[in-house]
Amino acid sequence: MALEFAEKTRRIPVYPVAAGYSLGPDVAMLASNEATFGPLEPVVEAARHAILGANRYPDPSYLPLRRALADRYGVPWERIALGTGSCDLLLAAGEALLEPGAELVYAWPAFSIYPHLAAASGARAIQVPLTGEAAHDLEAIAAEVTVATRLILVCNPNNPTGTALPLEDIEAFLQRVPDQVCVILDEAYVEFSLTVGDPFASLPLLERHPNLVILRTFSKVYGLAGLRVGYGLCGSESFRVAVDQVRQPFYLSGAAQAAAVEALRYQDEVERRVVATVAARTTVTEALRARGHWVAESDANFVWVRLAEDGDDAPVVAALRERGVVVRAGSALGGPGFVRVTLGTDAENERFLSALDAL
Ligand SMILES: Cc1ncc(COP(=O)(O)O)c(C=O)c1O
Repeated sequence: MALEFAEKTRRIPVYPVAAGYSLGPDVAMLASNEATFGPLEPVVEAARHAILGANRYPDPSYLPLRRALADRYGVPWERIALGTGSCDLLLAAGEALLEPGAELVYAWPAFSIYPHLAAASGARAIQVPLTGEAAHDLEAIAAEVTVATRLILVCNPNNPTGTALPLEDIEAFLQRVPDQVCVILDEAYVEFSLTVGDPFASLPLLERHPNLVILRTFSKVYGLAGLRVGYGLCGSESFRVAVDQVRQPFYLSGAAQAAAVEALRYQDEVERRVVATVAARTTVTEALRARGHWVAESDANFVWVRLAEDGDDAPVVAALRERGVVVRAGSALGGPGFVRVTLGTDAENERFLSALDAL
């Protein structure tokens, strides 16, 4: 007899993970928007030191990391939610806020985990198409808010398109959202955004909008994707309490926590990575446009380019992979015909462009 699983397992989409892990070392992995920069030596050392105490569960209050983030961003630690990556916080938000009869609104294409929230909870998802420039249409999102709406997800800069909206637009949007509706502003790539400016720019919104959660991660510019640490800066403490209630305790390992605290100390390095990424973004975008391809205006560490006019991106993705370049097919992310390319080292970016030329 086959096992019988819950109805929701038929609804939950399979997360489109990157291919290429089995291709060996000589591969340009440009599929998951990770940092090309490895962790700094003191960060590795902090994690190593924490592992020496791995016979104990980690302190479930995570106060050292909460306090480090509170010091940096000026948000009280009681209003800082943590997670095993920001994905964990998104899923916990779905569990805490959604149920059958409730509604969730977000732009599409956006981050590929978002559809999971409604599928897991039985809530209704309203996906609002991006504009012709592949940006969020906040007007159309606001128009979808009903009495049933519990949660709105705004991804700024947006994954997979890289587009970002100025904070004035976000603020005007927030003013239209009823107080009881939670808005998660997913800023996983905010450090790379010239439109937003810097990672402090959106923080004043929290004081004016208690229903807002600004979601961040150590998986991108901080280069700790393998350790998974995400955080939410919350307009009110109730969000943090609710997402902690629906999850198991000890979700963040001591090593992950220690590495994140240490990584925050090296803001010069963050700045250096941002400068290098922005330069690579300009180079790759211009190179693709010079070859006649449409490229969205990216504010992130990746570009979104149309490479298959007929919408069939599989052949180009496969051909690039044969040349050792792993990128993400747009069809897996809600944008058939497009390809999302993470910016790598100069050599990796050059390898991608040469492989494209060879097709
Ligand atoms: C927009 C966005 N939000 C959140 C995440 C989740 O990152 P993590 O769970 O590693 O913090 C990602 C990862 O790709 C992302 O693109």
